[in-house]
Amino acid sequence: MEVVTLLLLLCSLLCTAGHAIEALSYDYSGTTKCLVEPEKPHYKGGIIVNPEFNNGVKGWEALGQGAIKQQLSNGNRFLVLHSRIHPLDSFRQRVNLEKDKLYALSAWVQISKGNQAVSAIFKTKDGQLLHAGTVIAKSGCWSMLKGGISTNTTSQADLYFETGNATVDIWVDNISLQPFSKAQWRSHQDARIEKVRKNKVRFEVTDVDGTKLAGVRVVIKQIRSDFPSGCAMSKNILTSTDYQNWFSSRFKYTTFANEMKWYSNEARGRGQENYTIPDAMVAFAKQNNISIRGHNVFWDNPKTQPKWLTTLPPEEIGKASARRIDSVVSRYSGQLIAWDVVNENMHFSFFEDMLGKNASAIFYNRAHQLDATATLFLNEYNTIENSKDKTAHPENYLKKLKEIQAYPGNENIPFGIGLQTHFPALPPNLAYMRAGMDMLGSLGFPMWLTEVDVNTGPNQATVLEEILREGYSNPYVDGMIIFSGPYIDGCGRMCMTDPNYKSNEVGEVVDKLLKEWKSEFEATTDIHGYLNTSLFHGGYELTATHPTTNASKIMSIEVSKVNPDEIIHVKVT
Ligand SMILES: *[C@@H]1O[C@H](CO)[C@@H](O)[C@H](O)[C@H]1NC(C)=O
Ligand SMILES: *[C@@H]1O[C@H](CO)[C@@H](O)[C@H](O)[C@H]1NC(C)=O
Ligand SMILES: *[C@@H]1O[C@H](CO)[C@@H](O)[C@H](O)[C@H]1NC(C)=O
Ligand SMILES: *[C@@H]1O[C@H](CO)[C@@H](O)[C@H](O)[C@H]1NC(C)=O
Ligand SMILES: *[C@@H]1O[C@H](CO)[C@@H](O)[C@H](O)[C@H]1NC(C)=O
Ligand SMILES: *[C@@H]1O[C@H](CO)[C@@H](O)[C@H](O)[C@H]1NC(C)=O
Ligand SMILES: *[C@@H]1O[C@H](CO)[C@@H](O)[C@H](O)[C@H]1NC(C)=O
Ligand SMILES: *[C@@H]1O[C@H](CO)[C@@H](O)[C@H](O)[C@H]1NC(C)=O
Repeated sequence: MEVVTLLLLLCSLLCTAGHAIEALSYDYSGTTKCLVEPEKPHYKGGIIVNPEFNNGVKGWEALGQGAIKQQLSNGNRFLVLHSRIHPLDSFRQRVNLEKDKLYALSAWVQISKGNQAVSAIFKTKDGQLLHAGTVIAKSGCWSMLKGGISTNTTSQADLYFETGNATVDIWVDNISLQPFSKAQWRSHQDARIEKVRKNKVRFEVTDVDGTKLAGVRVVIKQIRSDFPSGCAMSKNILTSTDYQNWFSSRFKYTTFANEMKWYSNEARGRGQENYTIPDAMVAFAKQNNISIRGHNVFWDNPKTQPKWLTTLPPEEIGKASARRIDSVVSRYSGQLIAWDVVNENMHFSFFEDMLGKNASAIFYNRAHQLDATATLFLNEYNTIENSKDKTAHPENYLKKLKEIQAYPGNENIPFGIGLQTHFPALPPNLAYMRAGMDMLGSLGFPMWLTEVDVNTGPNQATVLEEILREGYSNPYVDGMIIFSGPYIDGCGRMCMTDPNYKSNEVGEVVDKLLKEWKSEFEATTDIHGYLNTSLFHGGYELTATHPTTNASKIMSIEVSKVNPDEIIHVKVT
């Protein structure tokens, strides 16, 4: 996404919401999930009064014109809001929210007819609307609404459920609202990192005869990390060795900021392609073992097309697009790990409007023919970062992905889920972010945070840290790219250095986390010759030095391949 466009978008859409720690199983056979097995309220309902509606409608009241009643079906009690007249007719429970907490919300929702988006919203006393999440509810089965909010004030608030269609009744059950302090949330992230990003490793050090050796000094050095942490890259890297050193000493993955976009590659006029710059950047990346996510073949925003394109009639746009995809995808075929094939095709529809509603599906199909190895991503903003955006929320993302996948010939394309992750410098709604990542991640496609950044503001670095930790601790996240760079690339939204490539506050957060997510230390074996530890997934070199002879043994270890029951035997001669 381009910086200017992004600023405009984010200024109009501020972020708030949250999400839960308990896991659950979804059935994604359709485009929305429906209840397979009934579920109890998470956290026994948390601070919600009468979460299972076993005490009539106690704790709940109708808002506006509707009426509420408890209903019993198959032995289960739930709440029904009926006789609605206006779309805003709803029901509420008043809760007390505390400042600086995260609230995970979950609820089972059903509607009386058809399919309808239902959102959960908190209205605070001072009139703030905190959007907690949206689900596409169906009739005939229960759908899970999962999300949450973050708070910046202590206030009473009304939790209510909203659906735009007044002709349907809303049913709800097993509503849960669980508060977490920031410290609790953080400790849960740390526990998840330990579990999903590290392996326990046990070394037993002996001498040649098999005698266990105590006090052996072991130096553990990480050679490679298995978690893709990357950063955007601009053409400025081609002319600055400082930029080159800054980048290659930190990152092994990249996305070019603008240099692979159509408006860059065919800027001067139709047919006048120029790949000099992206070719040179690809060559630089290759020399430095940096893997590239291709960004992007097309961008569905009408404002981000090559200038000459938009004046053409649809038929010519079709021909020019066919040439574009063939040109860029075959040029870099086999050299990129991924392509964002049609960027932002949930918020925009330039190609669908010009070429028909299957345009994106056809482009994914063609891209796969031209480059069979690249993972083909959808790439959207606001899916996890803005609970108010009704266009690209996780359920709509899933729907779009399924539509593209259902196009004949697309079944076996290696799709990927790209979540841009552009946050404002406000307390991030990590509960909502987590709910979205858990939902989309559980589909089984590779999922990356593709353009992580935080807009300028007093808490920019802190917010970035919270977001990166949330992403890294999520078991479904397969990689993260920070969409920023050194000072020379501009600091309008976010940058990571001063003019001399010294890390600024944001850069220091990134440096700190890269260091934290790496295992490098020295230790000694215990009296039984053991050294038990846990190491981040990656490749390591271990050096064990005999305490008296100084004889040393060097070994390579692949930590992600270590079996938890395995004991690694190290013989020091
Ligand atoms: C709510 O939880 C109860 C168990 O506490 C369960 O019997 C019921 O089916 C659940 N309702 C839904 C809609 O999952
Ligand atoms: C409201 O829902 C009903 C029942 O599903 C449906 O027939 C109707 O078209 C919907 N109206 C709107 C405006 O979506
Ligand atoms: C809380 O956040 C809202 C929305 O960003 C803002 O309008 C409000 O001023 C903030 N309140 C406090 C006390 O920071
Ligand atoms: C292609 O782009 C490069 C780098 O900007 C420029 O030096 C070169 O003149 C361009 N070639 C043509 C034919 O425009
Ligand atoms: C790139 O990786 C290969 C294989 O892992 C290694 O042999 C080579 O030294 C690396 N090159 C650089 C510049 O890091
Ligand atoms: C989209 O593709 C489907 C499946 O091939 C086809 O049935 C449908 O007619 C296409 N729609 C348009 C508008 O081309
Ligand atoms: C280290 O691991 C070994 C092998 O499983 C075990 O016997 C030993 O008790 C462990 N030591 C510690 C301190 O946990
Ligand atoms: C082992 O190394 C230590 C520190 O470098 C040194 O003081 C000691 O003399 C060495 N011992 C042998 C047997 O080489």
